[in-house]
Amino acid sequence: MQYQTTVTQSRYDRIAPFYDLMEWFTERARFQEWRQLLWSRIPAGPVLEVGVGTGKNMPFYPPDAQITAVDLSERMLQRATNRARELGLNVDLRQMDAQQLEFPDDSFDAVVTTFVFCSVPDPVQGLRELGRVVKPDGDIWLLEHVRVNRPIIGPLMDALNPVVVRIVGANINRQTVENVRRAGLEIVDVENLRGDLVKLIHARPAKSEVG
Ligand SMILES: C[S@@+](CC[C@H](N)C(=O)[O-])C[C@H]1O[C@@H](n2cnc3c(N)ncnc32)[C@H](O)[C@@H]1O
Repeated sequence: MQYQTTVTQSRYDRIAPFYDLMEWFTERARFQEWRQLLWSRIPAGPVLEVGVGTGKNMPFYPPDAQITAVDLSERMLQRATNRARELGLNVDLRQMDAQQLEFPDDSFDAVVTTFVFCSVPDPVQGLRELGRVVKPDGDIWLLEHVRVNRPIIGPLMDALNPVVVRIVGANINRQTVENVRRAGLEIVDVENLRGDLVKLIHARPAKSEVG
């Protein structure tokens, strides 16, 4: 898995200068609306954003939240640092692997990711880490595109995936809702934002059941 993690890191380092341009249209057409919806649900307090990328969520951060944001790619993080400065935000930005978060258990009120678990090499391990660092009564919010489980389109996504992942770094056939369950998290709700393709997943650590 270390090899795959290094490959992912290199891909996003390579893509970083073009990332915002590549997503310019979809960002304005849809993503911004979905980001706003997600962040409107995030409380004040310590919040972790995993896979911050170039910082596209920053304009939507709640004013009173204390945000820590991590990413695997140094070059994506450089852009996020610039964006935070431009927006006058005080964000604790760190280079870190979602699969091995360097935070103690139960550190955050909420953990947020947007379009990240399509890229994390071992998504189940990464999701377990989210469950570990969020407080027992905390929330995990994932805005993710996933494999569409329908005839023709599902297998087509599987067939195209090896090419797409090399070009843009993201797997288009991840089954993220199932991965959340495999990681032992409790699903609170799944909202379909664009057919079955884009989902807003609200989960909680299973430890909240015993806490
Ligand atoms: C498609 S981009 C999404 C960026 C941002 N969240 C957004 O909504 O625009 C995926 C991001 O996840 C990061 N990433 C991939 N694997 C990661 C890992 N194991 N740990 C931390 N970040 C990771 C990549 O470096 C990249 O910045």
